[in-house]
Amino acid sequence: MENNILISPSVLAADFSKLGDEVQSVSEMGADLIHLDIMDGNFVPNLSFGADIVRGIRPYSNLPFDVHLMITNPEIYINSYVDAGANLITVHPESTYHIHSVLQQIKESGVKAGVALNPGTSVEVLDNIIDITDLVLVMTVNPGFGGQSFLLSQLAKISKIRSMIDNENYSIDLSVDGGINSKTAALAIDAGANVLVAGTSIFKSDDKTYLDSINRLRNIAP
Ligand code: DX5
Ligand code: ZN
Repeated sequence: MENNILISPSVLAADFSKLGDEVQSVSEMGADLIHLDIMDGNFVPNLSFGADIVRGIRPYSNLPFDVHLMITNPEIYINSYVDAGANLITVHPESTYHIHSVLQQIKESGVKAGVALNPGTSVEVLDNIIDITDLVLVMTVNPGFGGQSFLLSQLAKISKIRSMIDNENYSIDLSVDGGINSKTAALAIDAGANVLVAGTSIFKSDDKTYLDSINRLRNIAP
């Protein structure tokens, strides 16, 4: 079934002892992007991995690297992630004093710029930055950990952002991140999302192959 949904497996749920192989497997089994969650133990209460790991796994996939920075003062690190092979860098407005400037910096580095909205963050934060944004990432869990439950309260926010994008004819991807499985993916797509980030439901599913898990998500939409 053809649709325009993009699947971005979050390697946070992958086997870290063989990260390169995991990235290669999902790339060969139909993923559209590779989602890399960078956590600093400060902006969020968890540590994950940094630019050297991103660089290390870069040769294992030809897909765009979708780097989600959950770190304080991301402006300091943008260049490192671009050098390491990021194709899209998403930042949280609360993580920096100057979100507009950080988005400009990302775009000037030659990669796409995304803005992530926490569950407690209102859509109004987009008002003055949407024109320089390539992707909006709606967090459907509080950032920091995989395996949490999808917050239904965020569906209204996804719909609002979908209207903002369509009313102005912006070419912006609307991504959803946190607690995505076949049930919640359907809700997110109905609300207007076109990119699904999924960790647990791909890397820790009972399916025989990643292909089955990816297809299950992809084939939800009409
Ligand atoms: C949470 C991360 C997510 C996380 C999603 O802070 O941004 O990308 O890995 O994991 P699941 O799909 O398990 O909710
Ligand atoms: Zn993420």
